[in-house]
Amino acid sequence: MPHYCTLIPGDGIGPEVAHAAVRAVEATGVDICWRRSELNEAIILESGKTLPHYLLDSLNETHVGLKGPVTTPVAGGFQSVNVALRKALDLFANVRPVRTLPGIKTRFDDVRIDMVIFRENTEDLYSGLEHEIVKDVVTSLKVITRIASERIARYAFNYAKTNRRRQVTAIHKANIMKLADGLFLRCCREVAAQFPEIQYKELIVDNASLQLVIRPETFDILLLPNLYGDIVSDLAAGLVGGLGIVPGANMGETHAIFEAVHGSAPDIAGQGKANPTALMLSAVMLLTHLGENESACKLQNAVETVYREGKQLTGDVGGTASTEEFTDAVLRTIKA
Ligand code: NAI
Repeated sequence: MPHYCTLIPGDGIGPEVAHAAVRAVEATGVDICWRRSELNEAIILESGKTLPHYLLDSLNETHVGLKGPVTTPVAGGFQSVNVALRKALDLFANVRPVRTLPGIKTRFDDVRIDMVIFRENTEDLYSGLEHEIVKDVVTSLKVITRIASERIARYAFNYAKTNRRRQVTAIHKANIMKLADGLFLRCCREVAAQFPEIQYKELIVDNASLQLVIRPETFDILLLPNLYGDIVSDLAAGLVGGLGIVPGANMGETHAIFEAVHGSAPDIAGQGKANPTALMLSAVMLLTHLGENESACKLQNAVETVYREGKQLTGDVGGTASTEEFTDAVLRTIKA
């Protein structure tokens, strides 16, 4: 039986990196059947809907998706596709492994960065509860619940245990938001007490940002509410060489969508310059989720080998290769 997976190429550089990731996954020999579902700015503007029903139907059948970026229309008050998908499918955990790839020049050449970020995906200041009380006075509600905080904390600790990680750091601003971040922290502490084998630490978000920049190698698992998670994830991507190489996953109880951290990059779309590494590494996470560990290892190792050799890298990481040349190098390595 093949695995069925919804493929959402997206727009901008999405179709280019999705094509590259599909070729790489198929080269590993895994039996996978793609259900292609188009979603892009033009479809959203024409239909007036952020999530067309055929996309949700497909995801409800396959339960897994590999997704390229989708441009969010600026006008018209459209919700971001990602926020809409997270809400519709209750994808409560955003997971981003941030690792040094061999051969990439960063400011931290002498240290190895290997952290995994767990960001709560459904509430906090992303609840969309904003209103203007009187002219020029706006409130935006930060919602933190026990149920969502415990769920993300348990998910992070379970991951740490299964993957033999040593430490979880909860990141907060409970010194100021005593009730909201206080509740988040209390839930993290309660869950931490159930995992005595894993070291538990807490850091205030401003100090965490400083420590990430000066001592990134000391971090292992990071556990954050939605807004801090969003910001710290991009900061962390910058530590290892940029958006082109950091993968991600949005995980729920029943569905999982794997996608790169970057957006649709309209400035380089259609020019063959996009780096498909982030989506290829997201596909590694997809393969692991499907239990295809051998294929996942093959793809991960092939990407690392191409980076180690350093001859076929794209422009964003200091090379001159096109999307296709990089992908061909990964495919050759898998086959070798
Ligand atoms: P962006 O991530 O698309 O681009 C930021 C910069 O990074 C650009 O200079 C771009 O050329 C570069 N870049 C990004 N990915 C790259 C790659 N794989 N290879 C080489 N260079 C890469 O962020 P921006 O410009 O803020 O967003 C553009 C559009 O994407 C917006 O409409 C935004 O809403 C959407 N977006 C969609 C996301 C998704 O669907 N997951 C996530 C983030 C943004």
